[in-house]
Amino acid sequence: MYLDVCAFGTRKRQYISELVACVDQGIIRLFSHLRHVTEMTDFSSHFQILDQWLVRHRRWWQFQPFHHRQSIWRDETPALHALLSELSESEILDLSAQPSRVAQQLAPWIDDALLGVQVEAQLQQKLAQFSVNQHERLHYRVNGRKWQQIVALAQCVPPTGEIVEWCAGKAHLGRLLAFNGATTTSLEWQASLCESARELAARVPVDMTLVHCDVLSSDTASYIRPTTHAVALHACGKLHTHLLQKVVAAGASGVTLAPCCYNLIPDAVYSPLSEAGQVSVLQLSRDDVSLPLKQTVTAGQREQRQRDQELAWRLGFDLLQRELRGIDVYLPLPTVPKSLLAGDFQTFCQWALARKQLDEVIPSSIRLAEIEQRGCQRRVEVRRMELVQSLFRRPLELWLLLDMILYLDDAGYDVTTGTFCDYSLTPRNWLIHAVKS
Ligand SMILES: C[S@@+](CC[C@H](N)C(=O)[O-])C[C@H]1O[C@@H](n2cnc3c(N)ncnc32)[C@H](O)[C@@H]1O
Repeated sequence: MYLDVCAFGTRKRQYISELVACVDQGIIRLFSHLRHVTEMTDFSSHFQILDQWLVRHRRWWQFQPFHHRQSIWRDETPALHALLSELSESEILDLSAQPSRVAQQLAPWIDDALLGVQVEAQLQQKLAQFSVNQHERLHYRVNGRKWQQIVALAQCVPPTGEIVEWCAGKAHLGRLLAFNGATTTSLEWQASLCESARELAARVPVDMTLVHCDVLSSDTASYIRPTTHAVALHACGKLHTHLLQKVVAAGASGVTLAPCCYNLIPDAVYSPLSEAGQVSVLQLSRDDVSLPLKQTVTAGQREQRQRDQELAWRLGFDLLQRELRGIDVYLPLPTVPKSLLAGDFQTFCQWALARKQLDEVIPSSIRLAEIEQRGCQRRVEVRRMELVQSLFRRPLELWLLLDMILYLDDAGYDVTTGTFCDYSLTPRNWLIHAVKS
């Protein structure tokens, strides 16, 4: 057989020479190496393809629509601006949940617009499916949608052995795994959640260990051992990257992780874990990595109305504060208490001014009703910009996942990835499953 090895990248050439070297050690070893070459190359080539695509199209997604008082494409790409302006707000929201249709619409401006959708389909692998026994006492007071996520994730975890559940909440996942025979230790930071987890475990009853701790502290290193299989359902940002570092440092037997809230990181810029991520020219700010979280699927009509109002009020307040301060710069607001949204725009603005330590007296010359109205118009404009960004939401999430996958792959883990449940159950439905080779 003739192989033009010069056409391959350095890592692949290295694997091929390793392959050749071990031919005389037997055909079985040769095949297992071949399988690893294929898997490794797939993840790393998908990463490179996405990376280059995201870099090339940065101008379409790496910005904050909130910060702009009008569409950033109005002058640069008037035809795109015109197309977006024809869409109603409900058409925008409807379209933004359908990346393939967004790609079709944007194809005249964005080359390879469908690439992200294609990579997502190619990355989807068949996840392991273990059988899981259930009992109704296991999901006492657990929301139905949440329980379906937990069962779906539990089906991907080896059913026995030593499990450590990271950032457990009320340890629903740990409880189900313990019921199915795993020796389970669940780690959680909030004392009240640990207490609830203990009570729920006692109701079944299941035998499991609940530890009240900060997983980021050095004392928790002892929980991740070579015999541990770690699991984490929706451990946020730093909590999931830290878990992977602990898994690799300890040479743990495996990890099953569904990441979420990529923006909950201590630094202003995301620090990639893998070599490929570290050498990428893509620099991702905390705001950038919040892009994948911008699609919600679970809103009812009332919730959606509340969100619309909050967005319009925030954008209206932004216009007000720019005028009052005489500085044409966006000022972020903290989380808005829901009770405030039942009131009026004036009370909202007074709360926001107090939070930003600005003068709370709004001059009588300012027409608040008009500003509120402009906030509503700006909301539509922001959603038009977000529609273009929506094409990059999932690809950026896959970039982050692939960064973690390549990190595990480089550390000698066999990794599989795919969605563990339907998107309608949770938009954070991608899973990384790694087992020490
Ligand atoms: C999004 S919730 C997920 C909870 C649970 N895994 C589930 O899916 O229901 C994240 C959990 O991480 C916990 N957490 C946050 N910071 C932590 C830390 N430093 N150490 C341990 N747990 C932490 C929170 O209290 C919360 O229960």
